[in-house]
Amino acid sequence: MKVAIGADHAGFSLKENLREFVREMGQDVTDVGAFSGEKSSDYPDWSWKVADCVASGRADRGILICSTGIGMSISANKVPGVYAALCTSELVARLSRQHNGSNVLVLGGSVTGPAMARAITSVWLATEAEDGRHLNRRRKIAEREAPGDAAGSKGRVVVTDHPLIQHKLSIVRDKNTSVKEFRELVQEIAGLMAYEISRNLPLEEIEVETPICLTKAQSLSGKKLAVVPVLRAGLGMVEGMLRLIPNAKVGHIGLYRDPETLQPVDYYCKLPNDIGDRDIFIVDPMLATGGSASASIAHVKKHGGRRISLVSLIAAPEGVARVTADHPEVAIFIAALDECLNEHGYIVPGLGDAGDRLFGTR
Ligand code: PRP
Ligand code: URA
Repeated sequence: MKVAIGADHAGFSLKENLREFVREMGQDVTDVGAFSGEKSSDYPDWSWKVADCVASGRADRGILICSTGIGMSISANKVPGVYAALCTSELVARLSRQHNGSNVLVLGGSVTGPAMARAITSVWLATEAEDGRHLNRRRKIAEREAPGDAAGSKGRVVVTDHPLIQHKLSIVRDKNTSVKEFRELVQEIAGLMAYEISRNLPLEEIEVETPICLTKAQSLSGKKLAVVPVLRAGLGMVEGMLRLIPNAKVGHIGLYRDPETLQPVDYYCKLPNDIGDRDIFIVDPMLATGGSASASIAHVKKHGGRRISLVSLIAAPEGVARVTADHPEVAIFIAALDECLNEHGYIVPGLGDAGDRLFGTR
């Protein structure tokens, strides 16, 4: 796990202690400073260095220390995507992960001694966030903080079950469907999904002269969009999406799932320079364990992407749960939510290997 750690002058000596402790635990620690406890410095500056690492995906978690921990908590929590929790005991640390999904641990150097700080840190790093009612509550917070996206569905799972989509999906699922037909249908379904996910694009009033008279009409107000396919199979959805949103820029993320470990292995990433200004649709037909989707979203965040939606044809509940837990603010659009994964990590009933069926490689 990548951990960013920072402190002001008052938290400096505890930070030095904890940095080594967390390294000894085998974590990959980045110390953002301060690098001396002698000179007074401003806690917001350090808190934002760590908070930005976590919000951008450069770090999985953050640790911040000032005198009481209160200033660091207040300022870190101004950064969207950061959930900083001031912890004074192991119990509070555990609950801040299980219930609140805190991604930044804050400690008070004048309040908590080194032994207790180590115990708190150890519990906090080892505890996973829980779903159920806690996930709903975390989603409410993410919804409140996230700026509106083109899809208008931040953090929600939307099944686009239009009859045309369901009909085409049934043909795509059929193992006897040819590569040519499969390819065409995946693009068509992606186009129909683009219709659904763009329903909240902002409009502006313009004046138009019809053959009859002048009138006021609604025109798209030029929102900046990006479509980001996850290679290979995501490429199968791009043309369909661009047919409806032709001015969107296209980024690419190269990832494949290791067949043994089912872990994503990345090999390529090229995104528009202004990705941070765009509403981003990551497209990949299959959301299985969610490992590839979660890693792709983290890549986009690392490059500054903020308003992100994931668009997939078929999802397994395991994949939806993984993405929602890792990226609660990301909206997930799917055409079908299937039953489960089989022992090889394939979606059941699913459609088999989307990449192979699109490109005829098996
Ligand atoms: C498929 C699919 C997703 C991933 C889903 O790609 O297109 O990217 O698997 O699985 P996950 O949710 O368990 O990570 P694959 O790894 O087969 O690569 P390909 O597109 O190059 O064929
Ligand atoms: N990748 C696929 O292409 N299909 C699945 O069912 C799971 C992962």
